[in-house]
Amino acid sequence: MDRRRAIASLCAAAGALATTIASAPARAAGDGPLRRAIPKGRGETIPAVGLGTWLTFDIGDAAAERARRGLVIDALLAGGGGMIDSSPMYGRAERVVGDLLATRGHAGRVFSATKVWTPFERQGPEQAAESLRLWRLPRLDLLYVHNLLQWSAHLKTLRALKERGQVRYIGVTTSHGRRHDEMLDVMRREPLDFIQITYSPADTSAERVIDEAAGRGIAVVANRPFDGGALVDRANRLPLPGWARELGCDAWAQVLLKWIVARPGVVCAIPATTDPAHMTQNMGALHGPLPDAAMRRRILEHLQRSP
Ligand SMILES: NC(=O)c1ccc[n+]([C@@H]2O[C@H](COP(=O)([O-])OP(=O)(O)OC[C@H]3O[C@@H](n4cnc5c(N)ncnc54)[C@H](OP(=O)(O)O)[C@@H]3O)[C@@H](O)[C@H]2O)c1
Repeated sequence: MDRRRAIASLCAAAGALATTIASAPARAAGDGPLRRAIPKGRGETIPAVGLGTWLTFDIGDAAAERARRGLVIDALLAGGGGMIDSSPMYGRAERVVGDLLATRGHAGRVFSATKVWTPFERQGPEQAAESLRLWRLPRLDLLYVHNLLQWSAHLKTLRALKERGQVRYIGVTTSHGRRHDEMLDVMRREPLDFIQITYSPADTSAERVIDEAAGRGIAVVANRPFDGGALVDRANRLPLPGWARELGCDAWAQVLLKWIVARPGVVCAIPATTDPAHMTQNMGALHGPLPDAAMRRRILEHLQRSP
């Protein structure tokens, strides 16, 4: 289903409910950055917006490029964010993140999330060890099986790493609305802590997966929150409505992120960026009121009317 049809079908289901900003759940002025509980985290919370690294952190050693990515991580942490998401699939991204965390004095300040991505079971432990080396960490906060590749075999490895204390949480990922039935099957069969899935106003197909995860106490991380950039670019061609400002948003990127993390079951969205100013802007979504269900429908309707 393409983006416009996805939005249209959700809006149709939503009906013509009127809404007002007054019905949005209140967050008191001065509240700290929005955090969400990890259902299996025994009270642990994480910031509701993090940072993805696909493409954007797959860079070489050029000082200017490295410095710019360093400023992105600085802005993530200065804004109250925490999760950095990477993968062996993302080329040099894990190395770049590990180098920048160490050299900028950020070691231990991020929620590290990466993946195992290999068709070969025997390579799972080696790949996890390499990730620890590249991130320069004694343990990872979260290790997923990337894109459900060899999930049954790799989840055994991930469970063993968790028992040994080298990984705190485990999960599986998919994206682009793919393989939701298989994701549901894995959640029903395996004791997972997290899943990661594509969810945004451009792709709402994961709703039933999110509900199943929430019912099972599995935390949901939303990848591709800006549809790879196309969604935020399209939204930015529209004037920012007055109700967006009442939600505490001064940019569409913040409206989109709030729409995602206001969804029950979603604990974190992980936009990628090469731009420190965009990172700071994205962190703005951690402040102010969140849209309630009616306001989320209104946001979708508004985007549907965009050219
Ligand atoms: N199967 C999986 O496990 C899987 C699959 C897909 C993605 N992921 C994860 O999810 C992360 C996010 O997804 P994604 O990288 O595909 O795309 P995305 O986060 O939806 O979009 C990234 C794009 O948005 C732009 N952007 C970011 N903030 C902006 C802002 N405030 N204003 C305007 N533009 C902005 C960025 O451009 P600028 O550089 O110009 O800011 C970038 O081109 C990935 O990096 C990865 O970590 C995981």
